This record gives sequence, C-alpha cells and structure tokens, in this order.
Amino acid sequence: MDSHITGALEMYGPNIVTSEGSQWAHLRRHTATPFNERNSALVWEETIRQTKEMVQYWEDEYSRSSSASEFILTDTREDILKFTLNIICSVGYGVKLPFRPGLENSTESAEGLFKDAITPLPGYHFTFRSAMEYLNKHITSMFIANGLLPKGIPRSVLPFFKKDFDAFDDIGRYLRALVSTAETKETLSQNLIDGLVRSKQKIDKDQGLDPELTEDEILGNLFVFTIAGHETTAVSLRFALVLLALNQDAQEYLYEGIREATYDEPRNPVEWDYRRVYPKLVSPLCLETLRMYPPVSGIPRWTGDSAVNITYHNQPYLLPPHVYVNVNASGLHYSEEYWGPDAAVFDPKRWDKRTREASSRRIRKVVCPDQGWNTTQSISQYEAHISLSATASDRV
Ligand code: HEM
Repeated sequence: MDSHITGALEMYGPNIVTSEGSQWAHLRRHTATPFNERNSALVWEETIRQTKEMVQYWEDEYSRSSSASEFILTDTREDILKFTLNIICSVGYGVKLPFRPGLENSTESAEGLFKDAITPLPGYHFTFRSAMEYLNKHITSMFIANGLLPKGIPRSVLPFFKKDFDAFDDIGRYLRALVSTAETKETLSQNLIDGLVRSKQKIDKDQGLDPELTEDEILGNLFVFTIAGHETTAVSLRFALVLLALNQDAQEYLYEGIREATYDEPRNPVEWDYRRVYPKLVSPLCLETLRMYPPVSGIPRWTGDSAVNITYHNQPYLLPPHVYVNVNASGLHYSEEYWGPDAAVFDPKRWDKRTREASSRRIRKVVCPDQGWNTTQSISQYEAHISLSATASDRV
C-alpha cells in the first residue's frame, strides 16, 4: 500500500488494513475472533435501540401534520452518520451514546469519561462523542496533521492543525482508558475492544505460539474498525433510503418481507431475539444497494517485491514487481457479462433466495466467492436490515 496512506492509517498503531505478509497474518488471527455471532447480537440490540431513538427524533423534529408518524426528511447525512457512529461506539468500545446528546458530566469514575456531555472533562478538549464526530468530519486534516506530517515538526508552528492534534490526543487517551479498563475486568463482554483484549490474554496463556497484541496494535485496529466501518455503512444506508424513496415497488417488497418474518413476533422490536428473527429477514435490498453503489469502489493490490503470474481469459500474464492493480468494483457490479442485460436496473429481487436459483451461478462466484459476506461487512448488513425492519415495524 502507498506509504502515505499507510502512515495516515497508522496514526494509532499498526493494523490489519495497512499490514502485509506475516504481520497481517498475526493481526488477522487476533482481529478475526471478536467478529462473531455474539458480537453480531450486540449490533442487533444496539441498532434497534438507535433506530427507535432516531425515528423518535425525526418525528419530534419534522412532523408537520397532526399525525406524528408523517414527516418529511430533506437530508439524512448527519443523522445517519451519527447513527452508525453510535453503533460502532457501542459494539466496538462498549460506550453507549444516546441518539440525542445528554447533559451529564462526571469525573467520579472511569465510566464518567464516556458519559455523553456538553462540555469535555477537565484536561480534555473534546467529549468522547465530539472527538469521534470531529474525526468523522475532518478525516483528511486529521490524517495530514497526525499521520503524514513528520513528528519532528513542533505543533506550535502549525496552529491551523490545533484541533486535529487535540482530537488525536483525546481519542488516544479515551482508547487507552478503555483498553486499560478492559484489561482489569473480571468478565470481558462481547464488544470488539474486549474481544481484542481476550485474544491477547489467550495468547499470553498459549505461551507465545503467536506474539501477543501490543497496546499500539489494539489501538491501531480499533481505529481502523471505526474508520472502515461507520462511513461505509452510513453511505450504504443512505443510498438504500434514496433507492427506497424512488422505488415504491421495492418499498412494498421490503415491507412484505419484514411482515412475513415478524408477524408472530412481539410488536416492540426491542423484544426481537437476534438468533430467532435475523435469519428470517431478507437481505436483497442491502445486496442490491451495495451492488449498485459500492462504498468501496476499488480494491487496491500491488505485486510487492516479486513478479506475479496471473491468468486472465485463460491467458497467462506476468506482472512485474512493484505494479499496482486496482480491482474496479463498480465496473464488475455493472458488467452485463455477469449480471445480464438489466445490470443497470435496480432490482432487489435478483437476490431473493426464491429467485436466486434461477439466476446465474456466476453472480455468486464473482460477488461472494466464499458464498457469503465477510464478517465485518455483515455488521453493516445487520445495521441496515435491522434499522429498516425496526422502522417498518413501528409503521405496522
Ligand atoms: C457496507 C459496509 C462495508 C463495506 C462495503 C466494506 C468493504 C470492504 C472491502 C471491499 C474490504 C476489502 C479491502 C481490500 O481487501 O483491499 C474491506 C476490508 C475491511 N473492512 Fe470493511 N466494509 C464494510 C463494513 C465494515 C465494518 C462495519 C467494519 C468494522 C467494524 C469493517 C472493517 C474492515 C476491515 C478491518 C477490513 C480489512 C480486513 C483484512 O484486511 O483482513 N468494514 N471492507
């Protein structure tokens, strides 16, 4: 990977996205385990909670008629970003933030550090939420100030980056506090931070078959989970909402699928059990949205220090060392060769299990080589599914 991008993404430490070879294998081993069914159940619960709070907020803010459930949303960007960030903070760090900021401020315990507040605690420039929001909105200047610029340059000569330095310091302190709290816990939970600490402790016991995770590696990976996870999910959800708004048929199709899956479930989605309900929910809308508007539109690779043999259309090719290759996801997703003549048409039904058998087997090979999504992508799928289902159930 380009060393500038690597430097920027390694602001807090080495991580799975920027590493290669044996370091990648070591980090992969530690970072894969926290993404499991138990963590997915947390995503499920938190998404339902956040959806209910967000929809309540929309009703309070935007209702214009006597019916509170009718409202017009003109822009969802900020709210959806907050929604996905809150979910990552909860399932990643165990910090539960209300959709509407609270007013509390407390220094009494370590937990007080993460209470939602209007003003930061003494010694901090940002509250936890506002530091995360700052990172989210100013990702480029955060990268430049803290990842690209040589560390030797005194901060005092770069006053325009003051907030970027402050946010970087505060996030680092918050993350370190979370890691040290996790390390002293008697029982670790299923969030990602506890999962990484659990993996570290397990390796300690295995007596060094694989080196344990360092604190920098824990921080570095938590940081990339946040960066890789919440913007991608937010963008996908926003596209899904727009596609639904433009396609009445797709709304009906989704709504019927949700009704079918939840007709004998409690009315309140908070009571829906992840293991029972999630498998019944349909996923075509998420898959079709990601096909048409993939938030990661290119997958970069390079040959490294050695030449690589590849086969394309049954012809062997030799790629020399230090060659960059970019897999064009959007190009693949609109290729009529794989999707048929209606590749450019939004049609969630093409993914429906009931019609899937009839569709080309090649689709599955190209898009889901292992017949499924990777574990982190399923976090986003859960969020999209659950939030749409919980919203729809309120309307039943
Ligand atoms: C719609 C949502 C998402 C999309 C479209 C997406 C897309 C991708 C893609 C295409 C890659 C492969 C990049 C490459 O190989 O060069 C990737 C890797 C990765 N994603 Fe996501 N992602 C999503 C959500 C998430 C979430 C929610 C998380 C974490 C909470 C996450 C964390 C990661 C990580 C850590 C990697 C690197 C994995 C590795 O190298 O083994 N992603 N993602």
